[in-house]
Amino acid sequence: MIDAHAHLNDPRLSADLPDLLARMRAAGVEGALVVGYDLPSSQRAVALARAYPSLRAAVGIHPHDSKDLDAAALDALRVLAREPAVVAIGEIGLDYHYDHSPRPAQREAFRRQLALARETALPIVIHEREAEEEVRAILDAEEGWALGGSWHCCSVDAVSATEIARHLFIGIAGWITFPKSEHIRALARAVPMERLLIETDAPYITPVPFRGRRNEPAYLPYTLQMLAEVTGKPAGDVEQSTTMNVRRAFPRWTLDEGGYDG
Ligand code: NI
Repeated sequence: MIDAHAHLNDPRLSADLPDLLARMRAAGVEGALVVGYDLPSSQRAVALARAYPSLRAAVGIHPHDSKDLDAAALDALRVLAREPAVVAIGEIGLDYHYDHSPRPAQREAFRRQLALARETALPIVIHEREAEEEVRAILDAEEGWALGGSWHCCSVDAVSATEIARHLFIGIAGWITFPKSEHIRALARAVPMERLLIETDAPYITPVPFRGRRNEPAYLPYTLQMLAEVTGKPAGDVEQSTTMNVRRAFPRWTLDEGGYDG
């Protein structure tokens, strides 16, 4: 099983990384995509992916920090994207729930990073909150769908999810285990298993029974288990499919397998 979205570059997790990675392996999680959210965290994601063969990196500026995406930051991301351990541009998108950056700045940063993904031929990792319509419109306008990648922590309705899943893989996070998240279970049932990924989004969205604690990749099996229950498929099949899907969503992952020391 592979954690398709984790912030091991977050100081809350990197503080005890060797132990965390040992727990991850013991839980049967063989790898994780470390996702950047600003420039320093993208640099840390690359450093981690270079140091640990089980990790890969995505580099990008989260919508929260869109206002910081100037020309220098974009150039720095472009240099990072050349690293073989970098398999995607992300997380990028729009967040109209928190509005930590002004919406015009969010849209501009999203467009510029989609252009970067086209230029570097890398898939994308989408973050979307209360902005589905605009994210989809920008992906339409910028030929973003063809890049491939994932729509992480997906929480759109089941009909939208099946449409999005024609182009991007759908990330299922620990939300699926929350009693009130029937809409997440509905979308997980609607999307074909060949288009689903499982992820922790650690240190956030800790699944039941650890909800409220700091999340980490070792808790991914709880999300896998719930996905198996919800879809009525054996856990082993779900594990096999979602693991294969990570390599399909992020093709560079396979090409560079075992290419690093550590
Ligand atoms: Ni994230």
